[in-house]
Amino acid sequence: DWTASNVVADQVAAIRSQVGDARVICGLSGGVDSSVAAALVQKAVGDQLTCVFVDHGLLREGEVEQVERDFVDATGVNLVIRDEKERFLTALAGHTDPETKRKIIGREFIRAFEDAAREIVEAAGDDGGEVKFLVQGTLYPDVVESGGGEGAANIKSHHNVGGLPDDLQFELVEPLRTLFKDEVRAVGLELGVPEVIVWRQPFPGPGLGIRIIGEVTAERLDTLRAADAIAREELTKAGLDREIWQCPVVLLADVRSVGVQGDGRTYGHPVVLRPVSSEDAMTADWTRLPYDVLSTISTRITNEVADVNRVTLDVTSKPPATIEWE
Ligand code: XMP
Repeated sequence: DWTASNVVADQVAAIRSQVGDARVICGLSGGVDSSVAAALVQKAVGDQLTCVFVDHGLLREGEVEQVERDFVDATGVNLVIRDEKERFLTALAGHTDPETKRKIIGREFIRAFEDAAREIVEAAGDDGGEVKFLVQGTLYPDVVESGGGEGAANIKSHHNVGGLPDDLQFELVEPLRTLFKDEVRAVGLELGVPEVIVWRQPFPGPGLGIRIIGEVTAERLDTLRAADAIAREELTKAGLDREIWQCPVVLLADVRSVGVQGDGRTYGHPVVLRPVSSEDAMTADWTRLPYDVLSTISTRITNEVADVNRVTLDVTSKPPATIEWE
């Protein structure tokens, strides 16, 4: 019988037998998957777990603060926050190919976790041993779409599955590997993970890095972050958060279009709104958002975000398009 409490019991037992008394780290992203994975591991092995939040600079506005406020307050988990913005920007410089960008981000995540693991052991100063395990919130659809499951097609390398380096020094703990998103949410509620996290819309591990079409730079990230914050604010204000699965905002950084603002010509970048409805992200339909909400978002973005002079709407289902543009 599938029930959330059976899944919790089974996974807690499985984690205990896999991990023993070794140290474990978990890459926390603020999203539902990594939060639920962390909560499961904490239930299983308590303080052997340290969560590591890597600020890769590809985050949306307010995300670091949100993790501290919502997750740590609720669970009391050990958390280390690492500022790794420079590392990721340097590694991504000059790259435009989507799969290359995904693999670079996946690789740098692991390097950051390795550094964190070393520092955790140093800071503990006892003989609790090395960090042997890394927890990842990999879901069943990630496994399938990265080419790891049966009948798999390698559509894209989700950073937590396809992008791992060969010389990984950790063993992976992936307690959500057989679950779909709605099941993960049920498990999260069962574990007492706060509802704001359980119901958070998905956000990809590679973050805004795969929503800038073209090279990722600090300036482009600022532009996209500002546009994204406006779209999210207006969707929340309109009460649409539960109706949409997610609404990526994509910056077409290598495209320019002509505009007119005030009494001058502009030559800026378009952004794309990609609102989708879905059950499990394997398939999706574009969400018919109310025109007045779209209009407000468009007006605000073009008024408030320098360099963006056009807002477009993606009206493609999945398939044939994927949800994210890269
Ligand atoms: P696609 O673009 O493949 O996205 O239709 C399906 C769902 O997965 C999210 N996504 C990711 N999540 N790491 C993640 O944790 C990734 O590398 C990744 N790529 C896409 C995407 O936001 C959507 O919800």
